[in-house]
Amino acid sequence: MTLSAGEANQLKQAPAVEGVIPAALHRWSPRAYADKLVSDADLKKIFEAVRWSASSANEQPWRYIVGRKGNETYDKIFSSLFEGNQAWAGRAPVLMIGLANTINSKGSTNGAAVYDLGQSAAMLVLQAADLGLAAHQMGGYDRDKARQLFGIPAEYHLGAAIALGHQGDPSLLNERQQEQEITPRKRKELSEFVFDGWGEALKLS
Ligand SMILES: Cc1cc2nc3c(=O)[nH]c(=O)nc-3n(C[C@H](O)[C@H](O)[C@H](O)COP(=O)(O)O)c2cc1C
Repeated sequence: MTLSAGEANQLKQAPAVEGVIPAALHRWSPRAYADKLVSDADLKKIFEAVRWSASSANEQPWRYIVGRKGNETYDKIFSSLFEGNQAWAGRAPVLMIGLANTINSKGSTNGAAVYDLGQSAAMLVLQAADLGLAAHQMGGYDRDKARQLFGIPAEYHLGAAIALGHQGDPSLLNERQQEQEITPRKRKELSEFVFDGWGEALKLS
């Protein structure tokens, strides 16, 4: 049985928890993308959210290379993806790579650069979700190839590639991906990662 995009979306929702930022509950990482462009206006909003991320010493070490379907940048990012990601990501209208400058403005190593890039990517995916868009981050790509194709300097760490677009019908996917697209999301309990002393769950009434 093939489900519609809306039905798949329903299956992926986190249970509602009152007071939690809606985008944090609605966000998930689809593999099916509709044949619909992402507007410049939405991209600008997404990168404004990134822009106002916190960063160590306000270094703002993140950089994003953004490809739109049909252009050379997109093709370069797509060609760097591992096969398993190429099998679905080529339908997303936007492909990106997030990078972090590991050298700070004083010329020293910025040990927080990768942390800051990750935090900015979280802002990116939450803002996308708030706009009704979906983002799927991918560690599975050939960083050496991407570095070479774009001429990225050695001091830049390549983080995740990111597919962005409007969530589409699971029927666009192969059988295995369709299954992944409708499998409910699982998470650890708070007691497994929120501690009061090492390994001791913090009691929250
Ligand atoms: C840094 C990072 C790398 C990831 N790499 C891949 C990837 O290469 N391919 C893929 O299909 N999903 C990838 N994902 C997506 C995760 O599998 C997904 O976020 C996780 O299973 C939780 O699902 P959800 O995002 O729908 O909540 C990656 C996510 C992150 C944050």
